[in-house]
Amino acid sequence: MTISKRFTTTAAIAGSLALVGGLAGCGSDSGGGEGGEEGGIADSYTVVTDTAFVPFEFQEEEGGEYVGFDIDIIYEIADRVGFEVEHENTNFDGIIPGLQTGTFDIAIAGMTITEERAEAVDFTSPYYKSGLRVGVPIDNDTIQGVDDLEGLTVATRLGSTSADYIQNNIEGATANTYEQLDQAYLSVEGGGSDAVLYDAPNVEYYILTAGQDSMKAVGELIEAQDYGIAVAKGNDELVTAMNEALAEMIDDGTYAEIFAEWFGEEPEWLEDLAADQVG
Ligand code: ARG
Repeated sequence: MTISKRFTTTAAIAGSLALVGGLAGCGSDSGGGEGGEEGGIADSYTVVTDTAFVPFEFQEEEGGEYVGFDIDIIYEIADRVGFEVEHENTNFDGIIPGLQTGTFDIAIAGMTITEERAEAVDFTSPYYKSGLRVGVPIDNDTIQGVDDLEGLTVATRLGSTSADYIQNNIEGATANTYEQLDQAYLSVEGGGSDAVLYDAPNVEYYILTAGQDSMKAVGELIEAQDYGIAVAKGNDELVTAMNEALAEMIDDGTYAEIFAEWFGEEPEWLEDLAADQVG
């Protein structure tokens, strides 16, 4: 399948660059946090993604390689900027603390840029224009959108902007928050929660795939949100270089190509995204 082939190819390129780097005597331990302290761009960075956020990062089979839109985007950026990716995965709510303590250098995980998060980490320019969506059991006819969620139990991800949204904007609703999103969908399917509120591309992708017989999306897109790549503070040159690479990829069509592989079409907001770029 072309999707995995693309990943394998980029990974192979990254691998051979690592070999060249090794032969030239650039130790891989010169990567990571040191890049920030000394300025400049390091040879390699630890890039963290979440364990499962379809179709941005996930395993097609248990124990398999991680694939997804975020994975392709970060390898393309790394190729252009010229660093090697040391890929790690963790639970979404562990990403920002991990960037703050230096466990990870970069995170790409469908993370919404918020003012609060921007105090803890730096963000690149937006790389995806998103929003939230409601999903309900396929046979539910009473919930037509977010306004019908008042007083209900709504499943979502721990530490996500959707969890904040439920708490701050839906009167009397109880947020059932899970470390793994699968658990949130399962909870709706099993009747433990009335609905799920989460990032639109994830809800929609789930409904097209695993959840096609059990769930449906209802209502309009709620709250526009931009995803950014998060970088540990103190890496200004890296952020600038990544922004340049991203702007280039949007201009030369590479971004739209990667997007189409995962979402089956070109993004309708491509022009808006291009206008958001500072690179
Ligand atoms: N966009 C939402 C947020 O930033 C959810 C992102 C979840 N991403 C993930 N990889 N689980 O809070």
